[in-house]
Amino acid sequence: MSHSIKFWAVVPAAGVGKRMNADRPKQYLELAGKTVIEHTLLRLLNADVFAAIAVAISEEDPYWPELEVSAHEKIITASGGKERADSVLSALKSIRAIASDTDWVLVHDAARPCITATDIQHLIASLVNDEVGGILALSSHDTLKNVQGDSIVGTLDRRHIWRALTPQMFRYDLLRNALETAEGNQAITDEASALELQGLQPKIVEGRPDNIKITRPEDLALAQFYMEHQHD
Ligand code: C5P
Repeated sequence: MSHSIKFWAVVPAAGVGKRMNADRPKQYLELAGKTVIEHTLLRLLNADVFAAIAVAISEEDPYWPELEVSAHEKIITASGGKERADSVLSALKSIRAIASDTDWVLVHDAARPCITATDIQHLIASLVNDEVGGILALSSHDTLKNVQGDSIVGTLDRRHIWRALTPQMFRYDLLRNALETAEGNQAITDEASALELQGLQPKIVEGRPDNIKITRPEDLALAQFYMEHQHD
C-alpha cells in the first residue's frame, strides 16, 4: 500500500545577518507590525500544504521563545548550525521520525517574508512529478559581469544565468544525503548546489520578483511596499 506523499517546510533561521548592521538578527526586525520571521511562518502556515514546519534556531537565540508562533502545533524547533546548510540538515533530522524518504521538503529562508501561496503552489505543481525537484528562480534583467579585483574580465550570457530563490523543493532522502555528503563544503550556499555536487540537475521554476530576501537595511522598506501591494 502506498502512503500519501506529504509536504514539509524547513526554515533556516539561525543566521546573524551581519549585513543589516542591526542590534538583533534580521529575522527579528520589525516589518509591518510583526517580526520578519513571523510573516514568513504565517505565510507558510496559511498556504495550508505543510504537515509541519521545522525551524532551525540558534541555541543562543532569546527572541524565538517569545514569539507566539514558536508554540504553534505545526512548528517544530530544531537547533541551528554553523552554516546555512548545517541548519537545514539539523531541521531535516528533527523530522526524521515523522517524514518518509519520498516526502517532499520545501526549504525556505526565514529572511524571505514576502513569499506567496501562489509561488508555493506554482513550485509544487511544477515539480511534484519530477525525479529530482528544483527551486524558484528569477532571470536577470541586468547584464552580468565577471570581475577580478575591480576590473571586468568577461560578460556572462544572461540567457543562461538565473538567481536562486527559495523555496527549494526536494525529496527528503535525496536532500538529506546530498547535504550529509557535502557537509563542511563552503560552496554550498543553497540546497540545489548540494544536489548539483551529486551530479543531479535540479529544475528551475520562475518565481515572483517580490519574493525578496532581507539582506540590507533598505530591504525592509521594500518588503513592506511589496506586502502592501500583494493581493494573493
Ligand atoms: O545570510 P543569508 O541571508 O544567506 O541567510 C539565509 C537564511 O539562512 C536566513 O534565513 C538565515 O537565518 C539562515 N541561516 C541559518 N544558519 C546559518 C546561517 C544562515 O539558518 N548558520
